[in-house]
Formats: sequence, C-alpha cells, structure tokens
Amino acid sequence: MTQEEFIPLPYPNTVVEGVVKWKSPSNIALVKYWGKKENQIPANPSISFTLNACATTTKVSYKKLNAKGTDFSFDLFFEGKPKEGFKPKIETFLTRIEEYLPFLKNYHFTIETSNSFPHSSGIASSASAMSALALCFMSLEKELNPDMTADYFKNKASFLARLGSGSACRSIEGTLVQWGKHKNTSGSTNLYGIKYPNKVHPIFKNYHDTILLVDKGQKQVSSTVGHNLMHNHPYAAQRFAQAHKNLDELETVFKEGNLKRFIEIVESEALTLHAMMMTSMPYFILIKPNTLEIINKIWEFRAITKLNICFTLDAGANIHILYPESEKEQVYQFIKDKLVVYCENEQYLCDRIGVGAKQIKVKSEK
Ligand code: PMV
Repeated sequence: MTQEEFIPLPYPNTVVEGVVKWKSPSNIALVKYWGKKENQIPANPSISFTLNACATTTKVSYKKLNAKGTDFSFDLFFEGKPKEGFKPKIETFLTRIEEYLPFLKNYHFTIETSNSFPHSSGIASSASAMSALALCFMSLEKELNPDMTADYFKNKASFLARLGSGSACRSIEGTLVQWGKHKNTSGSTNLYGIKYPNKVHPIFKNYHDTILLVDKGQKQVSSTVGHNLMHNHPYAAQRFAQAHKNLDELETVFKEGNLKRFIEIVESEALTLHAMMMTSMPYFILIKPNTLEIINKIWEFRAITKLNICFTLDAGANIHILYPESEKEQVYQFIKDKLVVYCENEQYLCDRIGVGAKQIKVKSEK
C-alpha cells in the first residue's frame, strides 16, 4: 500500500460518542533499526519478536464536539492519574497523524493508559504505548467507515504507530514482524510492519525473553538523538548493508531452525547497535558494567552447557535473554542463580514471544 491510500475518503458514518480499548505489546528487535530518514522512514530494515507480557493497555473515550476545534482536545491519564508531562508527545503524534485521520479535531478524547511493567523499569514503553493508541484511533475510524478491510486496519494501525515511534509499527501483530524495505522479503515496506512472510521453524514457537533490569534510571541519550547521530556516521553505510545481509541470512536460519547461526546474528546485531553509539560523534555509552558482567556469564554458561541461550540489547543497559521453550528450566535456573544479582533491586521480567495486540471489549459509557 502507498502512503496516499491511508488518506481516507469522506466517511459514510457519523459517530457521536463511544469507548474503545486495546492492549498492545512491546517487541524486541533481532535485526536493529538504528538510523532514520524524515518521517520515521528507517535507514535499514529490521525484524523483531513481538512480546506477550510487556504491554500497554489504552482506553480512549471520545465525544464529538459541536464544531471542529482549532487544536486537539484531550485529557491524559497514566495509571489512573492525570499526566500532563506526557501530553506534548501525544500532541506531536496527533499532529503527525492528522492528515490520515482527519476527524481528530472533531472530538474530545479521554485517553487512559497503563503499562503491565513497572513504571521507570528502564523498559521502553513507546512501542507498546504508540501502537495501543494508534489501534484505538483505528477502531474509531472503523466505526466511521465500517467497510474498512481487516488488512487496511492493521496496516494503517502500524503505519500510524510508526509515526509515533518507529519500532511501534512492529507491535501490531505477532510473532515475527519485519519493517523496512528489503528486496528479498516480499511485501516489505518502509511504511509499516508486516508479519514475517517466510517459513519459521517450530523451534521459534514459544521462544522466551527474560528481561534483566540492569539500570532503571533515565537514559542519558534518547533514541531520537541516537538515530540522528547515524547521519554522517563513519560506519553508517556498512551498518545499513549489514542489516540487509543479516535479514537475508535469517531467512534460512528461520526456515531451518539453525540456532547456532541465530545466536551469532542476534548477538552481533546487539553489539553493533551499541558500537554505533560508541563510534558516533558525539559518542555515548548506554550499557553499564553489569551489562558486560551478564554477557560474560551467558557466554561462559553457553560454552559449558551448549544450551542455546543468547542475549540482545535495546537502546539501554537492560539485557533481553532469549532461549527456546525446550531449554526453559535450565536457563531460568541459571538466571535466578547467577544473573539476578546483577539486576537493580534483583528485578527481572519473564516474557515470551506473543501474537500481537488485542482489542478489549468495553461497555459503552454513556
Ligand atoms: O522506535 P525508537 O525510535 O524508540 O527506536 C528503537 C530502536 C531500538 O530499540 C534500539 C532498535 C529497534 O529496532 O527496536
């Protein structure tokens, strides 16, 4: 689909008020998105596991205004309390998506949102938050235009989520989602995430992700700044080419269930992401001493046991430990015995690969 196809024709229906609610998960990239062009167009394609437990639930109540407003009209509640601090981000998001949802200034919205994971756990909530909000707006658009197809609904939800936070476009569906044009993945596009179209071996079913919370503090450098530092980065061209090559290789890895090669690609991607941060100008480091302690322990444990445990990182110090269902007992025991001591307040989250966002039924509150 093209960008223009997301600009709707006049809606057949009128809707005065209602409530919609979605629960949308986070995701963890295997091939990382790092670097972007204008309008959240990725500099390279990426692929992620959709998660299951780490999620944002968002309820949007809408009421038609007597006349279209000049500004957006909304109240925002986070975990039950008004949250003025989040409003500018939502305002920016609404401004970016208004062209595609021309009804936005016709309504007053009450947005109530909460996360399944603890606040300030260092877990990026933008992917789950932006995808949940995009889905709520799509549910309203579906009421205005009930003929909308299911494909249009999910593609446009992903397209809108991308305009909120790039990686959010990979949180609509499961279990593996690719975003970004890659010549060997059919249907891939820079505009929205697609369900991975190629064969996936059953070893990847129920794959686990245990997230070790190494540092729960505020990141010193935001992803927006990090992405921008890929402009004029000395290794940018090689990095973007590497992402395409890794996606090519992953096609065979996913088909054959080659975990040895999976581990090499996933860990190399994580370290390359952080290497890009360390070699940008200005340079910065987001990992912490305990991140490295954990990585070394994982490598030691893997060498001894030959189990298929591996790690990945997002733009922070926390570690995602990935392992197959068949090895969950031994790996989980190892995490509890040897790794949890490196976590802030011994905190970690147990998650696994998930199927994507879910709509939650709500009684219309009139
Ligand atoms: O969606 P953003 O702009 O917060 O960027 C996320 C970037 C990484 O998490 C580091 C990698 C990825 O592909 O999710």
